Amino acid sequence: MKSIILSIVLGISIMVTAQQKTQVYLDVTKPIEDRVENALSLLTTKEKVELCHAQSKFSSKGVARLGIPDVWSSDGSHGVSDEKLWDEWSGAQWTNDSCTAFPALTALAATFNPEMALQFGKSIGEEARHREKTILLGPGVNIYRSPLNGRNFEYMGEDPYLASRLVVPYIQGVQSCGVAACVKHFALNNQEISRGEINVNLSDRALHEIYLPAFKAAVQEGKAWSIMGAYNKFRGEHCCHSDLLLNKILKQDWKFDGVVVSDWGGVHNTDEAVNNGLDIEMGTYTNGLTTQGHFPFSSYYLANPFLKGIKEGKYDMAKLDDKARRILRIIFRTTMSANRPFGRFVSPEHSEVARKIAQEAIVLLKNENNMLPIPAGKYKKIAVIGENAARSLVVGGGSTSLKVAYEVSPLQGLKDKYGKEHIVYSMGYASGPSLYGREEPSKLNADSLLNAAVEVAKTADVVFFVGGLNKNYFQDCESGDRKSLSLPFGEDKLIESLRKVNQNIVVILASGNAITMPWLQNTPAVVQAWYLGSEAGNALADVLSGDVNPSGKLPFSFPKKLNDIGAHSFDKLCYPGDSVNVQYKEDILVGYRWLDTKKIAPLFPFGYGMSYTTFDFSKPTVDETGVKADGIVKVSFSLTNTGKIDGAETAQLYMSKSKSSVTRAAKELKAFKKVFLKAGETKMVTLEVPVSSFAYYNENKRAWEVEPGSYTLMLGSSSRDMKGKVDVNVR
Ligand code: BGC
Repeated sequence: MKSIILSIVLGISIMVTAQQKTQVYLDVTKPIEDRVENALSLLTTKEKVELCHAQSKFSSKGVARLGIPDVWSSDGSHGVSDEKLWDEWSGAQWTNDSCTAFPALTALAATFNPEMALQFGKSIGEEARHREKTILLGPGVNIYRSPLNGRNFEYMGEDPYLASRLVVPYIQGVQSCGVAACVKHFALNNQEISRGEINVNLSDRALHEIYLPAFKAAVQEGKAWSIMGAYNKFRGEHCCHSDLLLNKILKQDWKFDGVVVSDWGGVHNTDEAVNNGLDIEMGTYTNGLTTQGHFPFSSYYLANPFLKGIKEGKYDMAKLDDKARRILRIIFRTTMSANRPFGRFVSPEHSEVARKIAQEAIVLLKNENNMLPIPAGKYKKIAVIGENAARSLVVGGGSTSLKVAYEVSPLQGLKDKYGKEHIVYSMGYASGPSLYGREEPSKLNADSLLNAAVEVAKTADVVFFVGGLNKNYFQDCESGDRKSLSLPFGEDKLIESLRKVNQNIVVILASGNAITMPWLQNTPAVVQAWYLGSEAGNALADVLSGDVNPSGKLPFSFPKKLNDIGAHSFDKLCYPGDSVNVQYKEDILVGYRWLDTKKIAPLFPFGYGMSYTTFDFSKPTVDETGVKADGIVKVSFSLTNTGKIDGAETAQLYMSKSKSSVTRAAKELKAFKKVFLKAGETKMVTLEVPVSSFAYYNENKRAWEVEPGSYTLMLGSSSRDMKGKVDVNVR
């Protein structure tokens, strides 16, 4: 009898404990860490291992018996990709997954406006939320080291400070929707040539001062919930399982508590994947574009071999628990969060945001005799020439290729703005189809296309040439780098031919990379129009017509020739490497840091961009000339719109240290602010710079160090147009 009573009591208490236990992870009012611990305690070893590797091309398992959902991810950084087949790169042909395409991230960077990054993040986050994604695979913040890198359009330019200021609000926006951002590609994925195996060698200073800051800001300020390892190697280890990058820098020093996801096919062995900081293995034996292996998910490095190793005592259970904890944490932060809002998909608000960002991103590079704007009604016959006026620029480019609900092409946008009866279109050149991993020239006859365009241009009042690169392989496209800095597809020749018959020509370039402009001197107006997404044509027409005053600034330098750039000033080992190693010989002098320090004039400098109005900066003043190393410098000045129309100017503050114990760049961006001013309006502006940002990375001490002494802060409208300076002395 006694034993019956005892077992009933025990039974009840076991039930109660089990119920309480299950309740904790389901109880959304409990702290996440309690829920994580509780859920972890309920998992078998096999279930924990199953969390750590893919079960399909874009998902990994949750724990179905406990109601813990699978983790679903989706590309990419400027639009939510279509659904893919279970184990294929190909689209699943759903009919409800055509997204809004936002501008590519170089365009976002060109806005120099963190508010735009926040709205971008919120909007794309809402789209990802509506599509039930746990993780959005973006944003990318690899530094623009070479203008040949096929993926530069996915990133935020050449300056670590600019990228840092924009990545933080982007992540906050995405994650406010209950979707994890996945910052990529950590780290040093600065070229596509040999990306799967190239071993990057660089100094600790270049690593910490140039290539890591945007990731660090993403983790520490943006609080990113996930990060993606890069394909390449760093100091001999693949970045998807690099003890130095993932265990030491990311998890130990930066205290990252989120999930490290591998790039697709970026994992190479079980020992390192287990021990060196990776949490979820994706896409093994596929490489993101060209390789399409069918490999059982149970054979992934972090699947059966991991489970076997745990059972045999080869791998530490603590390692598995750490991964499982992180994965449970991301699930509780997203799909199992009580605060997860609903999303929306292809809403008019998203179109508005896409258009606004696109408008602010467009950079006016040249505007002789105020040729632009050209208001509607000014001309009767407008020739629009160039394949990019009519071609889809959201398709192609690799994993960021999008299936969109709509895309307003430049041609459409111009027709809507100027009236279709005033527009005559001619293709002018042809590039061939956008294919993954291979190049196929167009079958159309180049001479006939050129001649036809010249005929159209001859009789037009004005010519809008819309060219640039596109998303074809070897252009702005993943898994290959560009072969040269020049415009492709015979465009230089075409521009010259058009200009000969019509001097009233505006060259409009779609690209995520710098190009050379042999025709620049004789061309009155040039506009950098990036990849602007669904609203591309509308935004472009808004700017060309003057309905919107351009305010974009270049997030990377345009060099006059390729070997003016640091990465291209040395031998092959410096770029693209010898297929085993690449050595970043230009060190910390990336982008304008190189050009300015070496006194090489660029074609267009970093931070440059014109407006239809004019601005006047007053002399800057500083609140205190003597500051402590932990202080904040406040630089104030007034900014006036001296023209007749409203506009925005981005004030940029660069730091320079002439006497230093180490090499310093001639200048480094330390603060910026985009200021909107009505015609004639003046605003007082104060830029705050923490003195800690003057630090260099001391390799001997492995720490940041602010040298005492004098620093100059230069205020400018670009990296080459300084309006005034102040000196401060750091005690
Ligand atoms: C790319 C990643 C992308 C992944 C999934 C890889 O090839 O490098 O950026 O998120 O594929 O498509």
